Amino acid sequence: MAFRSPRRSRASTSPSTPSYSFAPLREGDLALVRRWLLEPHVRRWWDDGVQLPYPDAVIEGYRAALRGEDPTYHHIALLDGVPAGMFQHYRIGDHPDYARALALGEEAIGVDLFIGEADLVGQGHGPLMLRAFLRDVAFPFHAVDVCVIGPSVRNEPAIRAYEKVGFRFMRDVLVPGEPDAERLMRVTSAELATADSPTRPL
Ligand SMILES: CC(C)(COP(=O)(O)OP(=O)(O)OC[C@H]1O[C@@H](n2cnc3c(N)ncnc32)[C@H](O)[C@@H]1OP(=O)(O)O)[C@@H](O)C(=O)NCCC(=O)NCCS
Repeated sequence: MAFRSPRRSRASTSPSTPSYSFAPLREGDLALVRRWLLEPHVRRWWDDGVQLPYPDAVIEGYRAALRGEDPTYHHIALLDGVPAGMFQHYRIGDHPDYARALALGEEAIGVDLFIGEADLVGQGHGPLMLRAFLRDVAFPFHAVDVCVIGPSVRNEPAIRAYEKVGFRFMRDVLVPGEPDAERLMRVTSAELATADSPTRPL
């Protein structure tokens, strides 16, 4: 596909609103990402016991994607220009086992994310970043109008954060190899555009 994400996408610059932007992941970012993966608040949800040893097998997966061997696209999320977390997006149909488990019956993209810096969690940044990521990066890249997201049914902060973006409950899904069921949630690009904006960060 011809689309290439800008190194820095445009974002709001109002003094009362932080600026969120996204930069395609590079090899030089992986040491920072590895540190984030080891933060307890990230590891709790990212270490699912599948890609072992954690976090090095996860990092190797990101390297494979950088080499173009996995159709998953990773971005560093920046808050006022400073790296804050990592987002990934992909077309569900490009991952046949996952697509079979979700049985969506429509074309959709998927996203996953974490805020790596512990002191930035729980301040309302996640919903605002995810909204900006979908609007500016993931939906335009794939030219697909539906996005699903599947936090663990136990990850209540993530489920709440995604509701604030406009995601709505579809069903709980058992994905082979995952420790917990996923709470499958869905939003369209039109719903994203019309949903109330999540509140400003604390
Ligand atoms: C999930 C995540 C992206 C959400 O972003 P965020 O900026 O923390 O989201 P918010 O600040 O809007 O908080 C969402 C909800 O979490 C809960 N929450 C906030 N702070 C919390 C805390 N200290 N402890 C527990 N729950 C908390 C609240 O219910 C909040 O909803 P509310 O504002 O309506 O009360 C972020 O928390 C994160 O990266 N977590 C670690 C990795 C992860 O879980 N990734 C998702 C995998 S699917």
